[in-house]
Amino acid sequence: MCTDESTGQSWTLPDEMATAALGESVALALDGGLVLYLYGPLGAGKTSFARALLTALGVGERIKSPTYTLLESYRTAADTPAWHLDLYRIGDPGELEWLGLDALEDPAAVILVEWAERGLGALPAADLALHLDYAGEGRQALLQAHSARGRHLLGRLQGAALQA
Ligand SMILES: Nc1ncnc2c1ncn2[C@@H]1O[C@H](COP(=O)(O)OP(=O)(O)OP(=O)(O)O)[C@@H](O)[C@H]1O
Ligand SMILES: [Mg+2]
Repeated sequence: MCTDESTGQSWTLPDEMATAALGESVALALDGGLVLYLYGPLGAGKTSFARALLTALGVGERIKSPTYTLLESYRTAADTPAWHLDLYRIGDPGELEWLGLDALEDPAAVILVEWAERGLGALPAADLALHLDYAGEGRQALLQAHSARGRHLLGRLQGAALQA
């Protein structure tokens, strides 16, 4: 395991608003493109987080869950391309070929991937990985950096209070 992967920050998220606040905080700390993998069991809050992040970037339309479509594309208020993927239904990363994921190789893009573990090898490398899990009535979040860009973003978030 590379030492980058030990860099992380965790939060307790007592309710959905806290999950959304974390998504907004990441959006506010962002100063360019981002590839973020979202891990966690069914219902852990991956879509809630992604929806808040994309909305905070000024995506004007409703953020749908891409559970059936596998991917949705948006543009942020700054006209940056944004992609939201949900690979729950993917059995093998080879199944992603027909989706034309070449478009995701844009370093300026914001790319959020639920169930990223099902697309490994067919996805751009992650800058950040967010691990969400159940914790009582709420959730626990661990955000880890996997690139220089990710570490920079994590550094901007470190110690920051969640946006209310
Ligand atoms: N911190 C939290 N505490 C309690 N409930 C939460 C929290 N964050 C999100 N939820 C709730 O959990 C439910 C599932 O959320 P969401 O759809 O975002 O999960 P998901 O991880 O995307 O699930 P899936 O794996 O099915 O895509 C929603 O009802 C949401 O309101
Ligand atoms: Mg989801």
